Amino acid sequence: MKNTVVIGAQWGDEGKAKITDLLAEQSDLIIRYQGGCNAGHTVVTHGETYKFHLIPSGILYEGKICFIGAGTVIHPESFEKEITVLKGQGVNLKGLKISPLASITLPYHIEMDGWSENNAGKGKIGTTKRGIGPTYSDKAARTVLKIQDLYSFEALNEKLDMILPLKNKTLEKAYGIEPYTKDCIISLCEKYAELFKPYVCFEWQDMLRRYSDKTILFEGAQGVMLDIDYGTYPFVTSSNPIGGGAATGSGYGPCMIHEVVGVSKAYVTRVGEGPFVTELTDDTGKKIQEIGHEYGVTTGRPRRCGWFDSVIMKYAVLVGGITKVALTKIDVFDTFDEIKICVAYKDCRNDKVYTTYPTDVFIHKYLEPVYETMPGWKTSLSDIRKYEDLPENTKKFISKVEDLIGAPIGIVSVGPDREQTITREG
Ligand code: GDP
Ligand code: IMO
Ligand code: MG
Repeated sequence: MKNTVVIGAQWGDEGKAKITDLLAEQSDLIIRYQGGCNAGHTVVTHGETYKFHLIPSGILYEGKICFIGAGTVIHPESFEKEITVLKGQGVNLKGLKISPLASITLPYHIEMDGWSENNAGKGKIGTTKRGIGPTYSDKAARTVLKIQDLYSFEALNEKLDMILPLKNKTLEKAYGIEPYTKDCIISLCEKYAELFKPYVCFEWQDMLRRYSDKTILFEGAQGVMLDIDYGTYPFVTSSNPIGGGAATGSGYGPCMIHEVVGVSKAYVTRVGEGPFVTELTDDTGKKIQEIGHEYGVTTGRPRRCGWFDSVIMKYAVLVGGITKVALTKIDVFDTFDEIKICVAYKDCRNDKVYTTYPTDVFIHKYLEPVYETMPGWKTSLSDIRKYEDLPENTKKFISKVEDLIGAPIGIVSVGPDREQTITREG
């Protein structure tokens, strides 16, 4: 198999973990390269459901190496919870490795995220409150602790002297949050050092070299429309979920990537605030939410639902570098009489029509979706395993989507289970 990146092509929760799990079987090394425990990834296999936040979903196959790369942010307490749950489910974590260069989310990052959300007024993003924004901000400001610092007295001591005086002023004066003493952070770090010890991979350079002629799978979190550079900024996350993120966050360069699989639902969902042109606030939106069980894995929040939007998907194919699409949750439409696809946006102020994604999100409130309506198939797809066995109307829907977005749909997912997948050759 080619070295492949799996990314979300929408606003997250597209079913990336199901596709990663599927492709992991033929991979040797699986690398999670960005994001943190804001992600919630579900894999269903043999009737058992596994939920991942930071740990690559490839861990379900024994004998694979699952590497958490330098581009990620790690909240130790959430990591501890995640490994405890997985161990309880009998998952073997022997292949789990963590980059010494990954960044650490400290308790004050979580407090800052919560404070900002509660005080932002109109600027509320609807974050997962997992400290993601503040940790990545500190990384960019060169004031974050890295996993390797936990094992170096010099680094920890000198960095805390550099970081804490200003951080404490900000915490106290801007946020009204109690300052942190150096002793308090050092004693937390001692605990964290123990927690991560079995997993930290100081020989990661040798490991990546060793695996460079094997099959590598890069696992993305979130989705293109949540990308810090290309998403619906400022209503985005703080990392790069686009395919290119794999080259900065994993330790391998862009030439190691041969394929980018963009995962997209047959409709669209979004959690949190921000524009969403095809959002349905009516009974149809409710119906999609109920049939698709659209509630967040990490926060339990109901996901906003809407029709498939080819304008954002065509954009995601471009900026995400998508070479092949995995279309998921098409079975959610099994009972629908008709299904809509957004083919363009119309600006209700001047009737201007957009088929290219307008990146100024502050005009999105004036945009109305232009729909094409497709007939439903009115039968269950869940047991179909071959593309040629799909109903004609399902095939028509798939080829309409392909025409609009300019990328082939190579995988069609007809249910949450690993088995409920149709792979097309080519
Ligand atoms: P991720 O964050 O992209 O990995 O996606 P999530 O796990 O947050 O959400 C996707 C949800 O849809 C999970 O509950 C999956 O088990 C489920 N799922 C994935 N693919 C399909 C599918 O083709 N059909 C149905 N009905 N559910 C699916
Ligand atoms: P997976 O990997 C869906 C959203 C949040 C919020 C915005 C910023 O499961 O697809 P953050 O906590 O990252 O600062 O929040 O991004 N968000 C997600 N939405 N799926 C995710 O991950 C998400 N991770 C973050 O809801 O709107
Ligand atoms: Mg998710």
